[in-house]
Amino acid sequence: MTKGIEANAVGKSYSTRSGSLCVLRDITLTLAEKEAVAIIGPSGAGKSTLLNILGTLEPPTSGTLRIGGQDPFTLAEPELAAFRNRTIGFVFQEHHLLPQCSVLENVLVPALPTGDSVPLTSRARDLLARVGLADRLDHLPSELSGGERQRVAIARAMIKRPRLLLADEPTGNLDRASADGVADLLLEMHEENGGILVVVTHSMALAQRMQRRYVLNDGRLMPGA
Ligand SMILES: Nc1ncnc2c1ncn2[C@@H]1O[C@H](COP(=O)(O)OP(=O)(O)O)[C@@H](O)[C@H]1O
Ligand SMILES: [Mg+2]
Repeated sequence: MTKGIEANAVGKSYSTRSGSLCVLRDITLTLAEKEAVAIIGPSGAGKSTLLNILGTLEPPTSGTLRIGGQDPFTLAEPELAAFRNRTIGFVFQEHHLLPQCSVLENVLVPALPTGDSVPLTSRARDLLARVGLADRLDHLPSELSGGERQRVAIARAMIKRPRLLLADEPTGNLDRASADGVADLLLEMHEENGGILVVVTHSMALAQRMQRRYVLNDGRLMPGA
């Protein structure tokens, strides 16, 4: 299991002006290499919070996370940033592309901190061809449709072959046809890359395409149908 992810009794609380707000309670989750799972649940249930913890963007308040056998939160910030860059790809509901950079440059952004954007340029071109954007390399994000922007975000997430691909409502802003295309791509990329795919979604159509589903409700995670 050392290549997988293990969340053990993870809890998360925020301190707010009206006291402590418990968002996640006692979440235990084991994900093996090559698994693709969906997390569904109502708005405010804590889905993004859980994804942010799995993505090492914020630490839990209790419990532990291990990715590939390592607890990332024991790392100092620069090492944690390097770990995240090497290990995790993110696709958000909002694409978070850099507006002033071309499609090709955006896909290479995760390669900048490690100085490997030049060697990865041909992979970036290949990925953009795979997501159907070979003839959009020099476009700016504002010159693309919503579905196209999300396809760029998927190519960007895959550029470093992440062990863990996290997608937070990746089809939430898309029409049905674009959403289906984005779902196809996420699964294809996951199959090809190996690793682990975790998708937070309101779409039952997308959730049903994953191997397993979990329901997050009131901060508790349960296996779903
Ligand atoms: N930084 C924060 N400080 C205080 N409360 C927060 C913070 N981030 C999220 N929350 C609260 O945690 C709950 C879960 O949020 P979130 O994980 O975004 O839910 P979901 O993605 O399932 O809609 C919400 O009630 C939200 O208001
Ligand atoms: Mg959310």
